[in-house]
Amino acid sequence: MNEHSSPECIVFDRAADFYDATRGFPQGQEAAAIALFAAAGHLRHGSRVLEVGVGTGRVAVPLARHVGWVYGVDLSRAMMSRLRAKAGAERVRLSEANALRLPFRAAAFDAVVVVHVLHLIADWQGVVREIARVLKPEGVLLCGENFGGVLHNSVFEPIWAAWRAAIPQEKVERIGLKQRVEEALPSLGWRLLGEPQRLTYTVERSPQSVYEMLASRSWSNTWRLSDAELERGLAAVQAALQAHYPQPEQPLSLSSGFEVRAFQPPQDTVNSQN
Ligand SMILES: C[S@@+](CC[C@H](N)C(=O)[O-])C[C@H]1O[C@@H](n2cnc3c(N)ncnc32)[C@H](O)[C@@H]1O
Repeated sequence: MNEHSSPECIVFDRAADFYDATRGFPQGQEAAAIALFAAAGHLRHGSRVLEVGVGTGRVAVPLARHVGWVYGVDLSRAMMSRLRAKAGAERVRLSEANALRLPFRAAAFDAVVVVHVLHLIADWQGVVREIARVLKPEGVLLCGENFGGVLHNSVFEPIWAAWRAAIPQEKVERIGLKQRVEEALPSLGWRLLGEPQRLTYTVERSPQSVYEMLASRSWSNTWRLSDAELERGLAAVQAALQAHYPQPEQPLSLSSGFEVRAFQPPQDTVNSQN
C-alpha cells in the first residue's frame, strides 16, 4: 500500500524527502532522547525491541546501538528506504507491514516503541491490541512524544487559532488517537508505569517558518486539504502573522522537549494470549 493517506491511516511516503530535516532531534540531543527509552523500558543489550511506524529510523537507528537490534514496521517504503541509507541501518530489521497486523508471533518482544503514530491510524485501539499481543508478559509499550514544539507551543497559538477557524472542522481533527496517550491507554486497561522520562531543550522558530511549513505541506495536517482549503488556511495564517507578530521573520525561543512513557498491557490480554 503506497497511497499517501486513506480513511484508515496516513502513510508518510510524501514526507520521506524532508522528514529528517524537519522532524529530527535538535543537534546534540539525539543520544539523550534515546536514553529516555532505555531508562523507561529498562532496556539493555539483547532486549528485543520493535518500533511500530518506524519511518526513517529517527528513533530506531540510534536505539539499536543501545540494544543490539531493533525490529521496525511501517507501511511507507519511501520512509524505510531513507532509514536503509543511514549508518547503523543494518541493526534495524524492517518489514513493510500494517501496525494492525504485526508480522510477529505472540509474546515476542520486551518492548514496543511508538512515536507519533497512533494519531495517524483510525483504529488505534486495534494497534494497541496488536502491541499487547506481541509483548512478553512483562513487556512494555514505550510511547515517545515531542512536546512544546511548533505545533503545540502557546507562542504560536494565534496562528493555530486562525488556522483552525479557516479549515473545515473534519479536516482539523486527527483521524486516530485524539486524546493524550496517558489518558487514552489507562481507559483501555493499560497501566502507566512511573513518571515520564523527560528531556527539555529550547528550539528557535520564527512565525514565518510556520507559514512556510504549512505552505509547503510539510506537516500531515495539510495533506487532506484541497488546494482551495489550503489557500484559505494560509490567508488566515498570514493575517495572524500581521496582527500578532511585529517581526514574523524573527525566531522565537520555544521551550520544548521529548518525553517517554512506559505502559503495561491489560493483564487479561497478556494472560489469554501468551
Ligand atoms: C510521524 S511518522 C513517525 C516516524 C517515527 N516513529 C519517528 O518518530 O520519527 C509516522 C509513521 O507511521 C507510519 N504509519 C502510518 N500508518 C501506519 C500503519 N497503519 N502501519 C504502519 N505504519 C504506519 C507512517 O508511514 C510514518 O512513517
